[in-house]
Amino acid sequence: MLNFELYNPVNYIFGKDQIAKLSELVPANSKVLMAFGGGSIFKNGVYEQVKNALKGFEIVEFGGIEPNPRFETLMKAVQIIREQKIDFILAVGGGSVIDGVKFISAAVNFDGNEEDILRKRILFKDTKAVVPFGTVLTLPATGSEMNSGAVVTIEATQEKLTLGGSALFPRFSIVDPTVITSLPKRQLQNGVVDAFTHVMEQYLTFPHDALLQDRLAESILKTLIEVGPSVVENPGDYKLASNFVWCATMALNGLIQKGVPSDWATHMIGHELTALYEIDHARTLAIIGPNLYKVMFETKKDKLAQYGERVWNISRNTVDETAHQAIEKTIEFFHIMGMKTKISENAENIENTADFIVNRFEERGWKGLGEKQNITLEKVREIVEMSY
Ligand code: NZQ
Ligand code: ZN
Repeated sequence: MLNFELYNPVNYIFGKDQIAKLSELVPANSKVLMAFGGGSIFKNGVYEQVKNALKGFEIVEFGGIEPNPRFETLMKAVQIIREQKIDFILAVGGGSVIDGVKFISAAVNFDGNEEDILRKRILFKDTKAVVPFGTVLTLPATGSEMNSGAVVTIEATQEKLTLGGSALFPRFSIVDPTVITSLPKRQLQNGVVDAFTHVMEQYLTFPHDALLQDRLAESILKTLIEVGPSVVENPGDYKLASNFVWCATMALNGLIQKGVPSDWATHMIGHELTALYEIDHARTLAIIGPNLYKVMFETKKDKLAQYGERVWNISRNTVDETAHQAIEKTIEFFHIMGMKTKISENAENIENTADFIVNRFEERGWKGLGEKQNITLEKVREIVEMSY
């Protein structure tokens, strides 16, 4: 097993009627920026619950954070915080709002061009240098409620870039599974597939010594397969909802990543598809993931076979056969979850996609991606072209 440090300071509060606890969680006497998205919280009662819980606090509202949050929008919130001396930020929303708040938190006291936070991938480690924040999660998918990473798009240049660091964990996250009842089916489907792929990025590499991490990863995958198709039809079923939501957090709160190699190339390529065509994050993963497993078959086939046997109960023939069947099972599952697994089914005028992505990775100096750094730019091209 590889050496690791496990640090996760998030006070994670899970269950029904937990939003009321905000009054105890937000530091007393703080002036709060309440950040949210396009307005779903006004329709499902979350806004009212938050406002009721925070009676007596001075609150400045900042709405309009987009799905795939934009640097340009977030900088407006940064200005408000600087001008109005706000001491705490509350993110109320899905991954986009939470990620946006992580950027805002980091940018307020940043000395320099704020685009550099994204372009130079500066790590934020000093909690005193960022504005503290908490979250009320409304969409299970990204794990952003319990991790310290974020993804932000610079609209002007169509770049979707990451930021993070140990100072950017939420102080607390309130995760009430009943909030998913108002989610459109498409977003529920996205949540299952995003969480599933997060596990795959950290699991589907090569066989190694971290036995427990493998079993944890497989349990999350199996639970998502068990509840995913039903929860999108029946999000009001608390058993299904609570298991789905907890899987999504567990998939990317750092635990299963400890001591193991990880891949993340599906996400790197997927982010470019969102930046180019605004395809939903999860849908880019469903397009790229299986083709990446095919192109990187020789590297990944032993782990694919383990995944096939343990997660899909494929009885072993040869390693190659089990591995191929496991990829087919994954595609089948994504189709059951409502994904269209070709770029051309999700966007138009896509002929130059591979050139664009390969050029961009070249400009960034990226030579090899994946757990063995052997997903070269030629392989990236092959994966993207296979996905047309
Ligand atoms: O904006 P509002 O009106 O709130 O509507 C949102 C949005 O349109 C809606 N929604 C959210 N909760 C709802 C709801 N509608 C009804 N009822 C509710 N309870 O859903 C839409 C999508 O929301 P968004 O936050 O964009 O979705 P998601 O949580 O999937 O986040 C996606 C973003 O997270 C990034 C993605 O790249 C993408 O930008 N990721 C962040 C990660 C992280 N921080 O660790 C990891 C992930 O791999 C991912 O990259
Ligand atoms: Zn993701």
